[in-house]
Amino acid sequence: MSLDTLSEFIEAIDGIGELVRVREPVSVHLEMCEIADRAMKLPGGGPALLFERPMLRDGTASDYPVAINLFGSMKRMALSLGVQDLDEHGARITQLMDLKVPEGLMGKLSMLPRLLELSKFPPRLKSGSAPCQEVVWRGDEIDLDRIPVLTTWPDDGGPFFTMTAVISKDPSRGIRNVGMYRVQQLDRRSVAMHWQRHKTGAAHWREMAERGERMPVCMVVGADPASMYSASAPLPPNIDEFIFAGFLRRAPVKLVKALTCDLEVPWDAELVLEGYIDPREDLVVEGPFGDHTGYYSDADLYPKVHVTAVTMRRNMTYVATIVGRPPMEDFYLGHATERIFLPLLRLTTPEIVDYHMPAEGIFHNLVFVSIRKQYPGQAYKVMNALWGAGLMSLAKVLVVVDDWVNVRNPQEAWWVALNNIDPERDVRFTLGPVDVLDHSSRAFTFGSKMGIDATRKMPEEGFARSWPKVIEMDEATKARVDAMWASLGIGPR
Ligand SMILES: Cc1cc2nc3c(=O)[nH]c(=O)nc-3n(C[C@H](O)[C@H](O)[C@H](O)COP(=O)(O)O)c2cc1C
Repeated sequence: MSLDTLSEFIEAIDGIGELVRVREPVSVHLEMCEIADRAMKLPGGGPALLFERPMLRDGTASDYPVAINLFGSMKRMALSLGVQDLDEHGARITQLMDLKVPEGLMGKLSMLPRLLELSKFPPRLKSGSAPCQEVVWRGDEIDLDRIPVLTTWPDDGGPFFTMTAVISKDPSRGIRNVGMYRVQQLDRRSVAMHWQRHKTGAAHWREMAERGERMPVCMVVGADPASMYSASAPLPPNIDEFIFAGFLRRAPVKLVKALTCDLEVPWDAELVLEGYIDPREDLVVEGPFGDHTGYYSDADLYPKVHVTAVTMRRNMTYVATIVGRPPMEDFYLGHATERIFLPLLRLTTPEIVDYHMPAEGIFHNLVFVSIRKQYPGQAYKVMNALWGAGLMSLAKVLVVVDDWVNVRNPQEAWWVALNNIDPERDVRFTLGPVDVLDHSSRAFTFGSKMGIDATRKMPEEGFARSWPKVIEMDEATKARVDAMWASLGIGPR
């Protein structure tokens, strides 16, 4: 089932019993973040929260409710993308990439449903009065102070839109990008755009600035959940995230023309800020911001966006997330990416069995990879491939283990890795780009990376001793103990 709107998503979450409606008045200034943080630290990610009576920074009541932590559990993340298990989308991608044409007419006809499905991917541009434009503020009517934008942590530089799908276009090829970048509210009618230098929106901006052209941007807050997730997905720059969202939804994303700039926005969005960046203007200070590393990221210079229109649904729900010490809601968005992108990584690096980015590694700091090792040096081949693959190039520590290790269980992965390494022999350092948020690197966005080869070593890799067996109980004993377990009264199996 494809969820077309944010309210359908919220209803579906309510339907599975994972929504808590907060009826107390709660301030968007720090209080909401503290409540959401405590909720997100509950086992399994805590419930989604719908704040029905947000209080604005000036102490008045907001006209709009605030939804937080909508994606923040395994169940809700799968629900948002219309599946029981996120690996289902991985399997669909694998199937799509399987280019073997079956034999015979019937075989060929069996490909038809797959080909028909392909036609559902591209977004559809609609005309008419879109729900996302039921209310329109232009000129002096624009007042971002009336939107319940959260200030999340005490030392933050101001209020931030945190779950913003930012739409821009590649100026030379016209390909659209949708990236989830936070946006700091500067005043009633302008914001600062925090697209980091490795991201596609920033690349579009660099090209526009070189040309000296005004850059149109739209910032979407709340839409169908597949589009929201897709904005956070590390797709190659030449893939439009709305096409990817269409694939995930199994239905096209509906778009409508923005009112004051030459871009299209989701027909069903809750809230859209339309605007432009003027390349002749100086960059502005953005931040500091309590970030997903669990530390504040420093203030830095980013482009200012002039908001030319605010459009929204009449009964708009404002969507936010908070970041801070992990685990937070973004862990579940990252988890979806991990599952969905596995087949794409395998396309160029087929020996990869699985990979996992544990919450405490906040995506780029730690990646466990299991591989089917068949020749010496293969762990290093995989490390080099990953450090050359899109945003995976920002990974700080890569730990490669053998295929039988469950990398989704970091305790198991560390247990095996630490047993299997001779540190001097098995650890390698290299240099490369590092995440903008890495505060420890020798220079901003440049630093070292560590690869740990924790696979079983081969003679060619200089290992002359015998490799021990992992301890396992024999099957017959396990079966006998299984049979008597319940009567022992020790606990559940
Ligand atoms: C909640 C959340 C907030 C994010 N904030 C930012 C941000 O402020 N700036 C940024 O460059 N990336 C941010 N990201 C990461 C990007 O969304 C992610 O790298 C995405 O793949 C970028 O898309 P792009 O490749 O189209 O640029 C955020 C991700 C999440 C889940």
